[in-house]
Amino acid sequence: MDKARVTELGYLGLGVSDLGAWRDFATEILGMEFLDDDSGARLRMDYWRQRIVLHQGADDDLRYMGFRLSGPEAFGAMQRQLTEVGAKFEVASAAEAEDHHVLEMLRLEDPAGVPIELFHGPQVDLHVPFRPGRGMHGRFLTGDQGLGHVIIRDRGIAESERFYREVLGMRGGVEGRLQIGDQRVDMVFMHCNARGHTVGVGVPGWTKRIQHFMVEVDNLDDVGLAYDLVRQRQIPILMGLGRHGNDKMVSFYMQTPSGFFCEYGWGGGHSFAQSEYNPRGNIWGLDAESPSLRG
Ligand SMILES: [Fe+2]
Repeated sequence: MDKARVTELGYLGLGVSDLGAWRDFATEILGMEFLDDDSGARLRMDYWRQRIVLHQGADDDLRYMGFRLSGPEAFGAMQRQLTEVGAKFEVASAAEAEDHHVLEMLRLEDPAGVPIELFHGPQVDLHVPFRPGRGMHGRFLTGDQGLGHVIIRDRGIAESERFYREVLGMRGGVEGRLQIGDQRVDMVFMHCNARGHTVGVGVPGWTKRIQHFMVEVDNLDDVGLAYDLVRQRQIPILMGLGRHGNDKMVSFYMQTPSGFFCEYGWGGGHSFAQSEYNPRGNIWGLDAESPSLRG
């Protein structure tokens, strides 16, 4: 039987201590749409009802990441696969799935304790056009590449790689083999669609569940505009503009109001069909601007 596979990163849930700061950051810097009603605060990037769900809380960290399955058949096949490999999971009740605006959903954790939701059937509000929070030259690049990617903590890259490959059905492996001082750091990047990677691990000494999330725009001028706004407002920059060696993304990394980072990029290339690694990590740029923000 074919392996059951997730198809994209559909949504993220974040615990944020300062909802107002997140609203301003997400709308005015990133260009996302902010909505807050009876069912909570959320960010839109396209027609989906929600791409990032904001939960008020002191944790300032990732609460869950939602990976999509293609439909009810894949949802069933994934449950059989999880049982076969002995992964612990819990199928959410119909009420919980409705609360998350998906048709069906189950929960599990990755080897580093990062909470995961596997779902199918997201609510897509085709009757409600996306309204960017600031003027945008283009739009967010989502579609069948999902909302973007996340770099998350690990407790050993081999275990995480095995989990995302064998349990969730992603592909990939080591794409960065960096020498930092006398330490060799391997970065593992996993993909599940055309996007260069959807999940990455290997950031040394990172303790929060999430180190950064990446969103991609389809017009380079939106990256330039965000870069200007970030510098005007003196938002800390982790790494300045540059182009990555693996996913070819032109991007920079800014600090979010929750301490972890957001990568804002354009021009990402497609996931590797055959493995390769880069000893430097970048093609140009991406210089560390605030090294003290690491870890
Ligand atoms: Fe990234």
